[in-house]
Amino acid sequence: MAGFKKAAVLRGPFDPGGQPETRTGDVMELGFFAWNIKGGMTASKGVLKNPSRYQDFWHWDSAVRLVQLSEKVGFDYQVPFARWVGQGGETSYNDSNIDFLSSAAALAPITDNLGLFSTAHVTYKFHPLHFAKFGATIDFISKGRWGLNIVSGYSAREQAAFGMKEPIPHDQAYDMADEFTTLLKYLWTEDERIEFEGEFYQSYGGIVSPKPLRSPRPVIMSAGNSDVGIDFACRQADWAFVIAPTLQGYKDRVSEVHRLAAKYKRKVRAATMVYVIEDSTDARAEATKQWLEDEVDKVAVRNFVDSLKRSSFRGDFVSEDFTLGDDPWSGVGKEMFMRIALGIGAWQIVGSYESVAERIRELSDAGIESILICFFDPLGGLHHMEDEIIPILKNMGLRK
Ligand SMILES: Cc1cc2nc3c(=O)[nH]c(=O)nc-3n(C[C@H](O)[C@H](O)[C@H](O)COP(=O)(O)O)c2cc1C
Repeated sequence: MAGFKKAAVLRGPFDPGGQPETRTGDVMELGFFAWNIKGGMTASKGVLKNPSRYQDFWHWDSAVRLVQLSEKVGFDYQVPFARWVGQGGETSYNDSNIDFLSSAAALAPITDNLGLFSTAHVTYKFHPLHFAKFGATIDFISKGRWGLNIVSGYSAREQAAFGMKEPIPHDQAYDMADEFTTLLKYLWTEDERIEFEGEFYQSYGGIVSPKPLRSPRPVIMSAGNSDVGIDFACRQADWAFVIAPTLQGYKDRVSEVHRLAAKYKRKVRAATMVYVIEDSTDARAEATKQWLEDEVDKVAVRNFVDSLKRSSFRGDFVSEDFTLGDDPWSGVGKEMFMRIALGIGAWQIVGSYESVAERIRELSDAGIESILICFFDPLGGLHHMEDEIIPILKNMGLRK
């Protein structure tokens, strides 16, 4: 179309103006995760013992207290868990949540330093111009603290909720993510109206003003686990959130991220998500874990496993032709079933304050530079971080 500046690049790597600086100066950066959603990452009837503390902390008044406490304790950023359809079961697991875009805007004026992330599911019919505009505004009002988690949106159930009867193929979702991110970066950095004619997204005369305050653009994280997901993160994001079953697996993933990023002449830092049950002794923390497992909400976990059908986790843990049927562990085996119940497959850290710090040091030794933490008990977890765990991390040289 005449008169608009034609986009020369449609796929990454694409970093107009370079990548934003993400380093805070701490060896291990800390994120506060899943504070916005019913039950957090705990699919267990144990949460019903004290619903307001373990399940309904996402209600706005308590969510605000938690997020502000995380900032006071020294956390670097918050990330909401972005779900559109929950998992049901006896605990109505994840059935309610505060949304993951407007929450960043709401938190901006009531926090000072915390990084504020939102999440975009690229297959759910948003246009990049929507996120470019919403994000630039939140970055503007938060004085450069906003960032975006770009995920493919793996859930067929959620895609159906957005009107797609046939789910978008897994790898194609990452092609969409790639184009989505390229257009997003144009809109955040380009002063002229642009013409972008991609396979999935087009824009004729798109522009965003004001621009984000953060230079050259807001921080982008991505949490794909498959080869194409990691490749996408290395081409387009600043942070790759990886998951592995062992510490050696983490080392391998981290070096893969650095190798690929270097191939694309970029710098991408590796992070992971962790699920934490901490207590004064290892035995007490283990007892809590055992109790939560004894009370596992099987229907909710089963529904979650079913929703993973199209993610790479499925291939790792369940055979392609698996149907749920009568298998008591939904085809993933008891160990994985419990790992999904407590932390949706995240790295679990269960133990005394000293043990928790030691496990964090192991992740740091494996090359992980940031952990996104979900506590079974977020209020207790944040206080224990402040009083017990962060002081040990300081002694270890992992925190300033
Ligand atoms: C730290 C982290 C946060 C994630 N947050 C979300 C989320 O909020 N919403 C979502 O739909 N998927 C989320 N995911 C799932 C990933 O986007 C991705 O679909 C999953 O890791 C499977 O990888 P794959 O899509 O490459 O197969 C998250 C994953 C991780 C590791």
